Amino acid sequence: MMHIGNLHIDNPVFLAPMAGVTDHTFRVLCRGYGVGMVYTEFVSANGIVRESVKTLDMVRFTPDERPIGIQLFGEDAETISRSAAIMAERFQPDVIDLNFGCPVPKVTKKGAGSAMLRDLVLMRQVVAQTVAAVGQIPVTVKMRAGWDSNSIVAVEAAQIIEAEGAQAVALHPRTTKQSFGGKADWPLIAAVKEAVSIPVIGNGDILTAHDAQAMFEQTGCDAVMIARGALGRPWIFRQINELRAGAELTPVTISDVAAMCRTHFNLLAADKNERLAINLTKKHFGHYLKGFDGAVTWRKAFHATDSAGEVARLLDEFDRYCREHQEITLPLPGQTELHAA
Ligand SMILES: Cc1cc2nc3c(=O)[nH]c(=O)nc-3n(C[C@H](O)[C@H](O)[C@H](O)COP(=O)(O)O)c2cc1C
Repeated sequence: MMHIGNLHIDNPVFLAPMAGVTDHTFRVLCRGYGVGMVYTEFVSANGIVRESVKTLDMVRFTPDERPIGIQLFGEDAETISRSAAIMAERFQPDVIDLNFGCPVPKVTKKGAGSAMLRDLVLMRQVVAQTVAAVGQIPVTVKMRAGWDSNSIVAVEAAQIIEAEGAQAVALHPRTTKQSFGGKADWPLIAAVKEAVSIPVIGNGDILTAHDAQAMFEQTGCDAVMIARGALGRPWIFRQINELRAGAELTPVTISDVAAMCRTHFNLLAADKNERLAINLTKKHFGHYLKGFDGAVTWRKAFHATDSAGEVARLLDEFDRYCREHQEITLPLPGQTELHAA
């Protein structure tokens, strides 16, 4: 059990926000594997104040997804805090999360995302005004280490974030310049944990249950947050929970993969128009269909589909293949090498 302000969270294992991935469907699937907290994809504060239908559609969530954070990005305190107030009033999310981590030039060149870490005066203002705008709802921040290796500001930024009333901070300890290269600097998570009293959520390079355990042990963080490790592997949350409980990890068979593909496709088909559902199906199947004998052939076959009917027919074929090849299981990976102690 952990707390973010007045919010109780049963399980300190979070699904990270991912643009183009953590939509309603993916969040519900991860919820089924016991994730403790989920976030929307990042949404534009400008889009919200302009009442963009597309933006507002991105924050749609159902009660079974709670606790959920709506993540906002923007470049000025006025727009971000106004958008946060709108979100608080209309959707009452459990958390309003501020994105100070996105390294994508389209976002940073306007001063949003991780560009906030280059202007801690503005960052302070954004946090303070957002906290003041949303009433009881806890405000949290997700950030990177700093802009580049000469400007690592995570500890100072976390102290400002805490001082201005935010209730938790998540750190992906890479710089903007690193993007996804190199390895996440886990000791920086430990340094932030030492420097503030609000909960610290560690993020970066957790690809297996054992990696999650290692991050808890090496950094003392209050919660862990997983992004890429959940792509095509939403059962990572069950595996982390099992490992933390001292239980055996449940193996994943290719029949489990096939069942997950079917569930994911059905949920997408129910939630989106056919074109979008198929595009997202292909994207997610590209992640599910990896790491077992025959995966490449199935991945290519699904990639070539063009209609919901074709996907459904191929899913039936994949089911038959799985029944005939029950001996194929996915390997149960241990700790990856990047952060081996
Ligand atoms: C496809 C993708 C989309 C992402 N979108 C977001 C986003 O919208 N907001 C955010 O704060 N981080 C975003 N991230 C960063 C992740 O939340 C996370 O910080 C990063 O991937 C490191 O964690 P990992 O090693 O577990 O992947 C994204 C990452 C990926 C791979």
